[in-house]
Amino acid sequence: MCGIVGYIGKEEALGYLIDSLRVLEYRGYDSAGVALLDNQKRIQIKKSKGKLGNLINLTDNATDLHGSVGIGHTRWATQGIPSDINAHPHSNTDTSVVIVHNGIINNYLELKEDLIKNYKIAFTSETDSEIVAHLIGVFQNQGLSLKDSLIKTIERLKGSYALAIICKQEPDKIFLACNEAPLIIGIGNNQDLFCASDSSALLQYTNKIIRLKDLELAELGRNGEYKLYDLHSKEIKNPEIQILTGDPLLLDKAGFKHYLLKEIHEQPSIIRKLLSSHLDEDLNIQFPEVDSQILKDIDRIIILGCGTAYYAGMVGKILLETLSHIPTEIEFSSELLARPVLANEKTLLIAISQSGETADTLLAVKSAIQKGARILAVTNRPESSLASLAKKSTVLIQAGVEVSVAATKSFTSQMFCLYLLAIKLAELRSDKKLSAANKEELNWIKGELRYIPQIMEQALSRAEIYRSKILPFAGRHAFIFLGRGVNYPIALEGALKLKEITYMQATGYAAGEMKHGPIATIDENIPTLSILLPGPTYHKTLHNCIEAKTRGAPSLGIVADGDNEAIRELDVIFPVPQMPSSGEIKALGHKQFEDILSPFISVIPLQLIAYYLAEYMGKDVDQPRNLAKSVTVE
Ligand code: AGP
Repeated sequence: MCGIVGYIGKEEALGYLIDSLRVLEYRGYDSAGVALLDNQKRIQIKKSKGKLGNLINLTDNATDLHGSVGIGHTRWATQGIPSDINAHPHSNTDTSVVIVHNGIINNYLELKEDLIKNYKIAFTSETDSEIVAHLIGVFQNQGLSLKDSLIKTIERLKGSYALAIICKQEPDKIFLACNEAPLIIGIGNNQDLFCASDSSALLQYTNKIIRLKDLELAELGRNGEYKLYDLHSKEIKNPEIQILTGDPLLLDKAGFKHYLLKEIHEQPSIIRKLLSSHLDEDLNIQFPEVDSQILKDIDRIIILGCGTAYYAGMVGKILLETLSHIPTEIEFSSELLARPVLANEKTLLIAISQSGETADTLLAVKSAIQKGARILAVTNRPESSLASLAKKSTVLIQAGVEVSVAATKSFTSQMFCLYLLAIKLAELRSDKKLSAANKEELNWIKGELRYIPQIMEQALSRAEIYRSKILPFAGRHAFIFLGRGVNYPIALEGALKLKEITYMQATGYAAGEMKHGPIATIDENIPTLSILLPGPTYHKTLHNCIEAKTRGAPSLGIVADGDNEAIRELDVIFPVPQMPSSGEIKALGHKQFEDILSPFISVIPLQLIAYYLAEYMGKDVDQPRNLAKSVTVE
């Protein structure tokens, strides 16, 4: 996603801008640029399509590129192809006003036509962003200050924006403004000020930040002074200063070839961290960061998310309904925005977002808040917009910074937190005999949770086996993933992983759906990969596999050790360990829970399969084409 950075102070700005953009690189982009305002009030812009290295070549070879006021940007193209000219920063005609922009201006065409018709503006780029620089310039030419020109401009914008602006007329300032796109001020230690669209870019310089709220402006001065305003130009006194936690982003692969592989292997240690944070020796679940009141007297749950977060939410839905009997819906954030949100004070809305900045999720949460719903955030970023919306109830997944665009460790840690939440809710209701699972079953499940890290490690130790078995399928152009029950979301997640990083056509289906249409697509060129772990859905899924196989599809399967039936029926087996006491649950007479923890096992080979195919195919594994780590536009 697009990244904004800025610096104003007493030192040369360029190094700060480049180092900040370097931190934001992992989020995905297709061009980058900087603008510097020097003490002769000249503004110079350097920008380039492609990776940050192309921009650094430009700045390194620039002889007179100086200035202690500067802004920078990494662009993920929305309006206008990736190109040098469409890269940010953008300026007005005489380069007296220069801006960088995140977001989408929905009414940019009408504004552009007005500027061309009434002000004879000659546009240089295809972007929506460029109109902002021209509009500010037009108002400044009418004698308005930069602040008032910005306010007048904002009044005409429809859509989302995070803006950083510098201008020749007021060379000792950076102006910021935002609406439905994150923008943060960093308060430096030497009377310098920073800005960024993501706090990870600031941590190397400061831990003191001010998060701009929607429809607020900020004026950053050269001597560390800053002011915030509303759109009526009224100063906002005593803005909240947050203290960031965590360390500067250590972009270190720890010996792995890619961040993705490193993060796949980090999963067991993250689950151990979550266990020690939330499950004590007596198997009591604690969520100190959640206001327990919001978990009481709920009559409905809506889970929200996008992409991988949505699939974690699908598992959460199954758990919440199976264990706590609370009617639970799972919604794509973007789809919930497409219709009225039916929620009230008895609705618990669980918003899942690794970044906490996904625009669709934030907007859906805001509309649910207006309906009175209780908000529980499940996120990886305590200082994110989502965490601030959820105020007292944010579950931190503690996955550490996830550098690779494709989500892996954030997925399993989101899922794990949802398991704990579902059990917690079931326990709250079991006292009133409202939950489906009784105390004995809930305790068994909690006890089993403690084995997840070691089971994951056992599966991870088979990485080379998985690699050797999947590489023969590298040339296929499509894959079908099948799963049932709690493993249906895992089939979807496995398909998404493969899509994202190999660009193959990979589709996940509920195994039971194959006969209702998808089986028509089956032929010898389309392998099916099924999740076949012991549990109530095993035999039905095995039959679906066989139905596909009899129609020529190579049949692959994630299969528990010792499952001779599957070994006999399938062409390729990806063996995974069994949960240590799954036999016990049968003895307890609760077969319906036999596979309840299997998502943590089945997802490991799927993540590794996607990784090894992408690595073998020479793909940009950590920054796949067209993708962004956090989609901060609708
Ligand atoms: C998953 O691998 C993708 N990176 C994408 O689907 C991601 O899960 C989605 O954009 C949601 O991001 P979030 O968790 O930061 O909201």
